[in-house]
Amino acid sequence: MICSPSFLSCDFTRLESEIQSISNAKWIHFDVMDGKFVPNYTYNHTMLKDIKRYSNQFFDCHLMIAEPENHYVKYIEAGANLITFHLEATTDPLSLIKSIQRKKVKAGISIKPNTNILTLEPYLSLVDLVLIMSVEPGKGGQKFLTNSLDKIKYLNQKRIENNYGYLIEVDGGINFLTAESVKNVGCDVIVVGSFIFNKDNREELISELENV
Ligand code: DX5
Ligand code: ZN
Repeated sequence: MICSPSFLSCDFTRLESEIQSISNAKWIHFDVMDGKFVPNYTYNHTMLKDIKRYSNQFFDCHLMIAEPENHYVKYIEAGANLITFHLEATTDPLSLIKSIQRKKVKAGISIKPNTNILTLEPYLSLVDLVLIMSVEPGKGGQKFLTNSLDKIKYLNQKRIENNYGYLIEVDGGINFLTAESVKNVGCDVIVVGSFIFNKDNREELISELENV
């Protein structure tokens, strides 16, 4: 699996060394929160611009924001390689997917734990990635919600049956145990925050997580 360390549980006063500490990660996950779609505020597109100076990793940008159609361009201009928005946050997901892809950037769609997986049906043939939230969006360090496993299983089954090309990413409460559980049901990318950033041997953890 790909491990995408979540730039949420880190020390924002030491950006360069924080990036250095995860230099073997192929992806970096940016948890953008606007204080409207979710209660917390984290950072905006300027964080991606700052980090781009120290990193040429794949910028996996998770927009937990209201009206993403009005903001996604700033994140693309700041260096995002993938823009994932929430189905619950926009009135026209279809045109947003196409607008992102027209800019030669990957488009991902995400749902919160209580949103029914069937609501994603109309978009599965189009998106490059589906992000399953295995915790309630809003903060790091929460416990993995096991009902996420059924959603991943469903998505994996669906893409096999229909030959869809999307990646399956899971975000929240990932450690060695939950990484293995999500891998076993078809997950391709794991977002990992506190399990990596609360420790010093980060690069070792990243390579171990990628090979569970
Ligand atoms: C929730 C955040 C977290 C974060 C991962 O809004 O999206 O899921 O990325 O945090 P941990 O790995 O600490 O659960
Ligand atoms: Zn995230």
